[in-house]
Amino acid sequence: MKGVLPILIVELRLLSLVSVVSTLSFMDVIMAREIQVLDSASSVAESGALHFVRICNSSIKANGKFSVVLSGGSTPKGMLSLLASDEYKKQVPWDKCHFFWGDERSVPPTHADSNFKMATDALLAHIPANPAQIYRMEAEKADINQAAQEYQNKIATFFNIPNSGSPPQFDLLYLGMGPDGHTASLFPDTNALGEKSKWVVPNFVPKFNTNRMTFTYPMINQAKNVIFLVAGKDKVSALKEVLQGKPALETYPSQGINPIHGSLLWLLDADSSAELS
Ligand code: 6PG
Repeated sequence: MKGVLPILIVELRLLSLVSVVSTLSFMDVIMAREIQVLDSASSVAESGALHFVRICNSSIKANGKFSVVLSGGSTPKGMLSLLASDEYKKQVPWDKCHFFWGDERSVPPTHADSNFKMATDALLAHIPANPAQIYRMEAEKADINQAAQEYQNKIATFFNIPNSGSPPQFDLLYLGMGPDGHTASLFPDTNALGEKSKWVVPNFVPKFNTNRMTFTYPMINQAKNVIFLVAGKDKVSALKEVLQGKPALETYPSQGINPIHGSLLWLLDADSSAELS
């Protein structure tokens, strides 16, 4: 790949930090976290797209289908647009892909702020996806509690498991990170951070005075592969705290992303990672 800076950090560490922030009671489990610093946001998008192709094809080979969770945000959008290009499009068996979302704003699917609309415009409208395999979060519904439960039910039906208890394992889950350290719609000092059993919840976000719908830590941390896509100077300080700061989950919610069995890959551009040591 073009433009990869010579920085690659692979960490293998005891989950002492995770045991503090995790919603689950596991100790002394070994976790692998990989951090890659690339030269630009477009290299982050390119790497994210390459991982999509790889994990998609290996999941289909193993299980006949591929379940992926998309994220909102400008960096993830760049990756989705790339996947819609001729070069990438032909490398993916789209009819075997199942698309979910990790969070959504409480707006209709045609609204400019909708994560579903973003993914549709960037990717889904340009590929032969099966509409029955696109699972939208209906966060615009008046009863957002019920809508969150319905999304959890949809997930359970897809995986053919009970709609409560341990969450299922998505093959691949993408995340962005905001300048305040939020990820998905897990914002600092909000109720969803403490959710220990539900997979999907509404989350009131005071700074926007609105509800969002979001996957919870227990749900995200079950995924087989979690990939963060982070770019931009405005992320410098939060990224430093999330990756190298003291445990402060309520302030930097991205610290709570630590897959229990799966892999965690941070794809960063040079700007966002400028203060990492
Ligand atoms: C959303 C998100 C959110 C996003 C980050 C990063 O709906 O806003 O899913 O978690 O991914 O805010 O967004 P940028 O890549 O645009 O900075």
